[in-house]
Amino acid sequence: MSGVNLVSKRLQIVICLVLSTMFNSAGFAADETLLERGTYLMDGIAACGNCHTPKNPDASDVEGMAYAGSFVIESPNFKAYAPNITMDIETGIGSWSDEEIIRSIRDGLRPDGTLIGPPMPSPVYALMSDRDVEAIVAYLRTVEPVNNVVPKTVFNITLPTSYGPPVTTVTDVSKDDPIAYGRYLTYTLGHCFDCHTPLEENGYNFDRIGESGRVFDNIFGLGFTTVSLNITPHKQYGLGEWSDKEIKRAMQEGVSRNGRSLVRAMPFPNYQNVSEEDMNAIVAYLRSMKPLPAD
Ligand code: HEC
Ligand code: HEC
Repeated sequence: MSGVNLVSKRLQIVICLVLSTMFNSAGFAADETLLERGTYLMDGIAACGNCHTPKNPDASDVEGMAYAGSFVIESPNFKAYAPNITMDIETGIGSWSDEEIIRSIRDGLRPDGTLIGPPMPSPVYALMSDRDVEAIVAYLRTVEPVNNVVPKTVFNITLPTSYGPPVTTVTDVSKDDPIAYGRYLTYTLGHCFDCHTPLEENGYNFDRIGESGRVFDNIFGLGFTTVSLNITPHKQYGLGEWSDKEIKRAMQEGVSRNGRSLVRAMPFPNYQNVSEEDMNAIVAYLRSMKPLPAD
């Protein structure tokens, strides 16, 4: 019996491998429409709804309020409310042009020229490719308008007037280099280091990228505090000894290596939609990082 099972398991694996190569060599990216790409990103690695969709006490999304904004995100530097980014004309971004939405995401500037402050991760979205940012706009255009007025963010810091020169053209990062592509997925699209880098008095300490220790007070307004963990390949403090499967399980199921359930700060349900190919690139990139703290 078990021999037969083993053979059929092997056969299944072979079939999967053949199918996945066919899928890749067919170049699915070329056939993918902008809206399909946008849906894949929004339901997956980009997870804008992790901040822009209000949450129930169990951290699930409030029904009928997708991207309608309004829960508080607190830090010593701000008490922020992610705005309504539905297509509602009055209280959302329904009246903004595609170019204006793209500028708000990558340059962090509203149509009236004011700066969008943290924690909106525009400084990392500046590296988002033209195709991906256009795909996200194509998706946002399909979001149901919700009339919802959101309070204004209060900043305890002085914001700059801009994050840098305007973003013009950003080309796609090729999947042929899994580490560069993995960096694009983690650093840019997933803004992982926004949460996983220590935030010090003067901002992020970029010498300690991925080392963690960032405290989240009252995350999603749900009343609990959590601290992000070390995702560098440090053998003792980071993911150095973890298997690929364990890293994927933490991201997609919210279970740490020792079996502990992780606090729902990361959007696990979204990361479940990230393709195997993209998950492998993310893991490859994390493994290529500098282990921290330095020995
Ligand atoms: C970490 C939380 C977070 C994530 C992730 C995030 N945002 Fe934001 N976003 C915010 C906050 C907070 C603001 C408002 C900041 C302020 O008040 O200055 C904002 C502002 C915006 C605005 C300006 C809206 C307005 O009316 O001023 C747009 C558009 C926007 N975000 C789109 C997006 C998109 C698209 C994504 C995903 C690609 C995204 N955001 C991801 C937190 C986030
Ligand atoms: C909104 C903030 C946020 C974002 C975005 C985020 N994380 Fe996390 N992550 C956390 C927090 C907080 C924890 C720890 C939760 C806990 O300890 O219960 C965590 C835990 C982890 C763990 C488990 C570590 C361990 O020791 O158990 C891994 C792996 C991880 N994150 C990887 C990633 C990757 C890769 C990305 C980007 C694709 C990412 N995270 C994006 C906040 C975030």
